[in-house]
Amino acid sequence: MERKWWKEAVVYQIYPRSFMDSNGDGVGDLQGIILKLDYLRELGIDVIWLSPINKSPNDDNGYDISDYRDIMDEFGTMQDFDQLLTEAHARQIKIMLDLVVNHSSDEHPWFIEARKSMDNPYRDYYMWRPGKEDGSEPNNWGSRFGGSAWEYDEQSGEYYLHIYSKKQPDLNWENPVLRGEVYDLMRFWLDKGVDGFRMDVINMLSKAEGLPDAIVKDGFKYGDGVPLYCDGPKIHDYLQEMNREVLSKYDIITVGETLGVNLEQAKLYTGASRNELNMVFHFEHVFLGDGKLGKWSPQPWKLTELKTIMSRWQYGLREDGWNSLYWSNHDQPRAVSRFGNDSPEYRVLSAKMLATCLHMLQGTPYIYQGEEIGMTNVRFDQVTDYRDIQTVNAYRDFVGDGQLSHSEMMESIHQRSRDNGRTPVQWSAADNSGFTEGTPWIGVHDNHKEINVERDRQDPNSIFHFYRKLIQLRKKHGIIVYGSYDVLMEADEQIYAFTRTLDQEQLIVICNFSDQTPVFELPSHIRSEGRELLISNYEVDEQEKIDSLTLRPYEARVYRLA
Ligand code: NOJ
Repeated sequence: MERKWWKEAVVYQIYPRSFMDSNGDGVGDLQGIILKLDYLRELGIDVIWLSPINKSPNDDNGYDISDYRDIMDEFGTMQDFDQLLTEAHARQIKIMLDLVVNHSSDEHPWFIEARKSMDNPYRDYYMWRPGKEDGSEPNNWGSRFGGSAWEYDEQSGEYYLHIYSKKQPDLNWENPVLRGEVYDLMRFWLDKGVDGFRMDVINMLSKAEGLPDAIVKDGFKYGDGVPLYCDGPKIHDYLQEMNREVLSKYDIITVGETLGVNLEQAKLYTGASRNELNMVFHFEHVFLGDGKLGKWSPQPWKLTELKTIMSRWQYGLREDGWNSLYWSNHDQPRAVSRFGNDSPEYRVLSAKMLATCLHMLQGTPYIYQGEEIGMTNVRFDQVTDYRDIQTVNAYRDFVGDGQLSHSEMMESIHQRSRDNGRTPVQWSAADNSGFTEGTPWIGVHDNHKEINVERDRQDPNSIFHFYRKLIQLRKKHGIIVYGSYDVLMEADEQIYAFTRTLDQEQLIVICNFSDQTPVFELPSHIRSEGRELLISNYEVDEQEKIDSLTLRPYEARVYRLA
């Protein structure tokens, strides 16, 4: 296995809007990030992934960009960005930007031009189609934020495609001039010294030939276009071209967000000789428990399902390609609420257990802001307290047409809304959690008095210090990065255990995902003499036999055998 710095790194995701507000306008900003760089250095991370910072009318909080070469007003100026980059680099922290080029904002000058006339030179930067014979939309695809994926343009009598909101028109990657523009803007940032890109829904760039109708699933009005707009026929040509033209010229980190991707496709995106991307984010584990209406009708899920998914990816990419590892991000609920147990009794234990499990798998771990102190999901009472366009539209659609009652929908929102991950970082017990001196753009979680950075930093047994230790272990033991994975006790519904092996060295990772006390059985071929305990979330008697071990609720241990 080839050694690479981005395999050894730990990435920390910042959602700038909710990270730290330096000027009291209630919105996080770049100067706020600069204020917290020493905190991130203390945590020990290597790379910051910044969710979009470009100019944007914020229909989708920056994932709708109106100027790819400038900074969003609320976040600051280009001078602030240059300072952030310099100050991060001075602390050995790299900066990875979000590259959002499946779509732009409808307020981008390209789209403003494209809209003007059918023969405008920018027309072909976007995906325009005439309606069907009866004048209806060109196909039946639904937008991911509700309604049709097509918007009618009065002036030209054509529709344009928008897989997300109608303020996020899809760019036309068939057009080589558009592709050249994107490569140019990528060079613009890389030449400034940026260290890589997280590429937003990058597997959507190529759509199925002819844009055919999609299957309409039960409970939905529009077709599910995912199989037709993800991993399309030209996607690998585009990414190889992007790699040839841009990526290969810099020593950077690249991760593609790839909705609905399967392992076979992921091998094509990340295989070392393919010259596309370093790694991708798949969605299989975060889709666990999705019901008929997807995440809006959540169902119970089993640990064996989670293990099957994780193991498939661990084995699948062990020879070639590379995994990214994450429990949460700005589109997902909080890790401890989703996969652990956020009750006062088990929050700290289960957050540490989840961190152990993830950081001991093979791949590059991603920490989402607030995860390192065990921030939890929020339960706002009113739907009007929610800011996320996806949440607000889903409430309108599913409650509006009577498929879900108000209280069913609120329960789903409490479990799965993207705003769970977007409440401000809880820096302290102060008003507004020390995030802002003004009025925050979204409510602060009322548990910030107990759960906050200040408190965690002072407590040597905190989740924060546990994460620091996990990151330090990764720097010390190459096996955590490069060792190969083997699952143990595959059929167990409470314990997720696995080994990592590199030459003569082995790790045993034992994680109890339940509030019960199941028994871990060490396979007889593994000799546990001379073992060293690397980390655990309870006090452990080092002399204790581990052949048959009764685990405490949410217990996690990692042993090293040499
Ligand atoms: C994925 C991003 O993570 C999400 O926040 C956004 O809404 C969509 N892509 C559209 O850009």
